[in-house]
Amino acid sequence: MSLRIPLSSPDITEVEIEAVTSVLRTNSLSLGPKLVEFEEAFAAFHGAPHAIAVSSGTAALHLAIRALNIGVGDEVILPSFTFIAVANAIRYEGATPVFADIDPITLNIDHVSVEAAITTRTRAILVVHTFGIPAEMNALMQIASRHRLAIIEDACEAIGSTYNDKLVGTFGDIAVFGFYPNKQITTGEGGAMLVRDTHLANRIRALRNQGRYPSGDWLQHAELGYNYRLSEIACALGIVQLRRLPTILAQRTRVASSYHDLLAHLDGILLPPLYLQSRTVSWFVYIVRLAEQSTSAERDKVLDALLQAGIGCARYFAPIHLQPAYQQLPAAQQARLPVTEAIAERTLALPFFNQLSFADAAQVADTLKAAMAAITADR
Ligand SMILES: Cc1ncc(COP(=O)(O)O)c(C=O)c1O
Repeated sequence: MSLRIPLSSPDITEVEIEAVTSVLRTNSLSLGPKLVEFEEAFAAFHGAPHAIAVSSGTAALHLAIRALNIGVGDEVILPSFTFIAVANAIRYEGATPVFADIDPITLNIDHVSVEAAITTRTRAILVVHTFGIPAEMNALMQIASRHRLAIIEDACEAIGSTYNDKLVGTFGDIAVFGFYPNKQITTGEGGAMLVRDTHLANRIRALRNQGRYPSGDWLQHAELGYNYRLSEIACALGIVQLRRLPTILAQRTRVASSYHDLLAHLDGILLPPLYLQSRTVSWFVYIVRLAEQSTSAERDKVLDALLQAGIGCARYFAPIHLQPAYQQLPAAQQARLPVTEAIAERTLALPFFNQLSFADAAQVADTLKAAMAAITADR
């Protein structure tokens, strides 16, 4: 079905097009100056010692797990209310994802549930800043230090958001970012990592490039590695998008505020928090929730009504532990996540992108109001 208002849309200007085409006029399409420039700009933006560009957010997650030597017999605590790649990366290395429940306001991993999930096998907490809202880093960092656990931050949905005035991605041992076209900034496909430790950063650079160390030649492979490189074309795109990030985040905040104004008085719908103490939000998506008495069937009816009207929408997220790909996993079968399950049944992602006009947001709001009225009439 062709949609009149898509769920997301990348924002590519002539400056990005010019940057990409000028790379195509050179003979350096991989491992060249744009990679260095993108990594330096990414590290400088975050005030971080090492940034490493990779081919996707998933590749970044995989390298994080691998570089920390997390493997068979180890456990990593993470939310189930997130994108499946987060848990998959743990399984790629034979380790066990252990799912913790979420906080009903921020929708981020709940530190009480994290602490309850810790065992002698736990090696790391994989903290996701879901939907661009920073997780409760103070509590999580304290738990990690008390139990000597690594912190991997997944900031794929949250570039530029802050917690206690500090950018997300600068708290953990390793942080990962993703630049798929629905993200705040895009490189088509792509990702990046921030790494605190120099030795770890060097190892990740080698793992990204087939296990090659800088000291060796092109056909010298010191350890099992991958091709997780990011092309010069993608890096050129990333450099311009990163430069535009402050403007992009301001545009997205404007769209979120418009939705808030338009939906403020709609009964039966809960809105995401616009302001949170000690945090700034980098708006990734705009997720509303049907009120507690609603069923998943009712949410699906609303989804259908929006799609029928040509409006892109989706159920963000379907919990990982309930996915068919996880059914055989004891850690998924044993997961008890009442908040995750109750919330995931009622969420609804509305169209959200930089250039979404007020008129289109108003049309989304009107269609949503009509769908909610139909549901109330059916009860
Ligand atoms: C929280 C989170 N982690 C990881 C990923 C994976 O990133 P990619 O699609 O670039 O592999 C995503 C992407 O949607 C994500 O939202």
